[in-house]
Amino acid sequence: YASTAYQAWLRYEKLPAELAEAYVQLCSKIYAAGNVAEDPVLRSAQEELLEGLQAMLGQQPELTDTAGDAALLAGTLDEPEIAGLIDKDEAAKVDEEGYLLHTVISGGSRKLVIAGTTSKGVLYGVFHFLRILQTRGRIDNLSVIENPANKLRMINHWDNMDGSIERGYAGESIFYRDHAFIEDLSRIRDYARLMAAVQLNAVVINNVNVHETETKLITKEFLPQVARVAEVFRAYGIRLYLSINFAAPIQAGGLETADPLDPQVRRWWQDRAKEIYEHVPDFGGFLVKADSEHRPGPFTYGRDHADGANMLAEALEPYGGIVIWRCFVYNCMQDWRDRSTDRAKAAYDHFRPLDGRFHERVILQIKNGPMDFQVREPVSPLFGGLTRTNQMLELQITQEYTGQQIHLCYLVPQWKEVVDFDTYAAGEGSTVARTVSGELFNRPLGGFAGVANIGNDENWTGHLLAQANFYGYGRLAWKPTLTSEEITDEWVRITFGHDPQVVETISRMLLESWSIYENYTAPLGVGWMVNPGHHYGPNVDGYEYSRWGTYHFADCHGIGVDRTVKTGTGYTAQYHEPHASRYESLEECPDELLLFFHHVPYTHVLHSGKTVIQHIYDTHFEGVEQAAELVERWRSLEGKIDAERYESVLERLLEQAEHAKEWRDVINTYFYRKSGIADQHGRKIY
Ligand code: GCU
Repeated sequence: YASTAYQAWLRYEKLPAELAEAYVQLCSKIYAAGNVAEDPVLRSAQEELLEGLQAMLGQQPELTDTAGDAALLAGTLDEPEIAGLIDKDEAAKVDEEGYLLHTVISGGSRKLVIAGTTSKGVLYGVFHFLRILQTRGRIDNLSVIENPANKLRMINHWDNMDGSIERGYAGESIFYRDHAFIEDLSRIRDYARLMAAVQLNAVVINNVNVHETETKLITKEFLPQVARVAEVFRAYGIRLYLSINFAAPIQAGGLETADPLDPQVRRWWQDRAKEIYEHVPDFGGFLVKADSEHRPGPFTYGRDHADGANMLAEALEPYGGIVIWRCFVYNCMQDWRDRSTDRAKAAYDHFRPLDGRFHERVILQIKNGPMDFQVREPVSPLFGGLTRTNQMLELQITQEYTGQQIHLCYLVPQWKEVVDFDTYAAGEGSTVARTVSGELFNRPLGGFAGVANIGNDENWTGHLLAQANFYGYGRLAWKPTLTSEEITDEWVRITFGHDPQVVETISRMLLESWSIYENYTAPLGVGWMVNPGHHYGPNVDGYEYSRWGTYHFADCHGIGVDRTVKTGTGYTAQYHEPHASRYESLEECPDELLLFFHHVPYTHVLHSGKTVIQHIYDTHFEGVEQAAELVERWRSLEGKIDAERYESVLERLLEQAEHAKEWRDVINTYFYRKSGIADQHGRKIY
């Protein structure tokens, strides 16, 4: 594919002549230090640099063997030609995966140095440098040093080997078809490039729900294929991980038990580890969903999650692998009549008592919220609840509950709220970002995991603008202090060019889209109200009488879940102060989370001055108008964007605008019928 949609953020638009001229002097002669031929990551760096420059500058840069002749030098900091140009103190600031981009004067001429401590740093430096050109920044006086905030910057694929993707909205898997690996790895390579360009370094290539065939990925049957894929990713600095089935010793090993304390079981996993590393020497490790939504786990054997995770960590430890253990553990067989169980409390209740018991090579992977990637949730209190355990933040890039890549819902602003959330676990400034990076409690491991939103659709993400979610995820995982505006501006310029009207319009569409989506869907933090199973479209009571623990409790008087200590489930006590009191208090609870924490009458007055029922009506009418405006805003760009991309986005926006009406009418009608309270403005409610 050569389409701009396929190229995504590796689209290197040819620069206007005056700009190219300003760059060309520093970019035309390149010296690549190190053994490029033998080091696949350095080779990728060089290829990327040449390809990007050639496309943007419109001329082939020249590779020279003599460092002295070159204007641009790239390589690791220990190469003499590079070291000679860089101040030692500056070089010392570059971490294992970090890099520097410096413009220096040497021998009377200006030179540009792209250097990392490792080859991976060089690759990241190259991508950063190309991004400067893509966004038309200056390069004549560069003094950039970047190190990743997070060691692990990971993508989780929920791909199944039959080719389907659980919660995938952009076609089928790029890895598998018909219970086998896809032979042609070129698309995986293109994907690895996209990942590396946003400095992601880890990938799990199969679904956390590990079915029959996938259970055998860690056996001889598939390991040679896994190794081929790992090799593709390796050249881009990305380590491969697999999701495992906790019952694999039974299902793939023929043992009678999967008890983590059983010597035979432990031996079986040790043998697997040995075999895996024979095929994939830099294998990353295992991702585990255990005792969750009917997946097997240590509970079956009366063991706890530390027993299970530690057993696997011990098996991988000799080879440097790690275990990422998910905290999405709750009772999915709850009786809706049972008002004492609160799903929101489950992760904290399960894992907090185990704090300090996990092996150093185990990371707990915690979803951003206590429920399941709703349009609005509070931040999971588990982030503030663990101080002696490695932690990782799990975000859902794929838009399961946020419009399934038919609706525009740019999630970076939501994620920013999560990473900037102060848990107060060690006093003020104990943000989620600092918790998961490991910095706050001085943990050896940590990072971000994002559930992929890509598939084999030509534009990767179905909705072209959903590419921004993947891009933004990578940027945030590298540097959580970036603002939504910075990330958005970058992505729009790289993807659509620099016309001020285009940049302004698309940036604002993206930045406002989450709030628009929230307006016409589940109100005030209550969540759900979707069709069961596939989770698309409105169904207020879809989960109200089910086993999943996701209720809103609406009746003729009011709505919301009482999670207070005083009269409810006691969930608010899982937070540190000041959050515990703030959420507990009806007066202080933020409007957007009110129904998550409190059950209130429809006439309850919000901080905004509106009653809850009027808020529901107003936001739903407004949300539909805003969705219609998105269409008009996009139409104002006709002719400024190539027809293919213009039309494909327009089509989705039109569908969103139509479907938003369905949401509005179902929700408004439901609450009008329940409450009997009319809209103050007399608008049409059915
Ligand atoms: C959600 C989602 C499932 C997924 C699960 C998980 O419940 O709907 O498809 O398997 O989360 O994160 O494990």
